[in-house]
Amino acid sequence: MIKQNEKKTNNHIDPHTTIALSSKIMNNVDIRKNVIIHDFVTVYPNVIIEESTEIFEGAVIGKPPSSIKVVSRPVSTGQKTIIGKGCIISPHVTIYSDVIIGEMTLIGDNASIREQCRIGSHCLIARNVAINYNTKIGDFTKIMDTSVITGNMVIGSHVFISLLVATTNDNEMGRSGYNEEKIRGPIIEDYACIGAGANLLPGVKIGKGAIVGAGSVVTKDVPAKKVVMGIPARIIRDVEEDKKQG
Ligand SMILES: CC(C)(COP(=O)(O)OP(=O)(O)OC[C@H]1O[C@@H](n2cnc3c(N)ncnc32)[C@H](O)[C@@H]1OP(=O)(O)O)[C@@H](O)C(=O)NCCC(=O)NCCS
Repeated sequence: MIKQNEKKTNNHIDPHTTIALSSKIMNNVDIRKNVIIHDFVTVYPNVIIEESTEIFEGAVIGKPPSSIKVVSRPVSTGQKTIIGKGCIISPHVTIYSDVIIGEMTLIGDNASIREQCRIGSHCLIARNVAINYNTKIGDFTKIMDTSVITGNMVIGSHVFISLLVATTNDNEMGRSGYNEEKIRGPIIEDYACIGAGANLLPGVKIGKGAIVGAGSVVTKDVPAKKVVMGIPARIIRDVEEDKKQG
């Protein structure tokens, strides 16, 4: 059991912060000006929370991942977690250690962000979104409610991922253990849009500005600025000229 650090050595907490008494701030934490931390938040060691960020009830920041040998992938621990300026971390969010989030990003209720993720600035990660390990997300990207972002995935800037989207990284479905070289999530390039409930299979690339229709199962790469839909997803047409971005 982790006990609250009574000495609180090595912490740097700016005097212009508000931290609820019920929250638990561990050792080696840097909390900057005008940060607000509401009730029952836990901040683990090696966390930096930048200026004017607000963290709501029950959130957990910088949690080291646990490994009980049911997971074949080795887990990283002890790295810094940085929450950028002006972010909102909603109730019951869990952000693991070794995560960096840019400024003005909103993380919605119950979202979970695993270790080694990098999330850009001005992003919206909505309620119940799960982002697995080592995934990179650019700036101004929106991921809507209850979508699942797999490990080793790359998502560009200005991407829109609708609700209930599933992404995967292993066609072996764990039968061959964890092989870093082979476990690859999809790549979604800038300005692409993914419709509600779509499934993106391991390693597929969604080209810049492409649109994936709701409910599609994407089994192959999608060229830039094409609309695909169906199971398996097929190219239907080009993105309309007036709606092309990027
Ligand atoms: C990609 C999308 C925008 C296309 O919609 P659209 O422009 O109205 O589609 P089109 O008019 O080009 O449809 C062409 C044909 O494909 C069919 N079709 C449209 N969307 C389809 C889909 N997702 N899957 C399968 N077929 C689809 C249409 O019925 C039409 O068939 P028809 O020619 O036999 O009548 C739409 O499918 C979609 O995915 N919307 C996303 C909704 C969403 O997630 N919004 C975010 C809110 S959080």
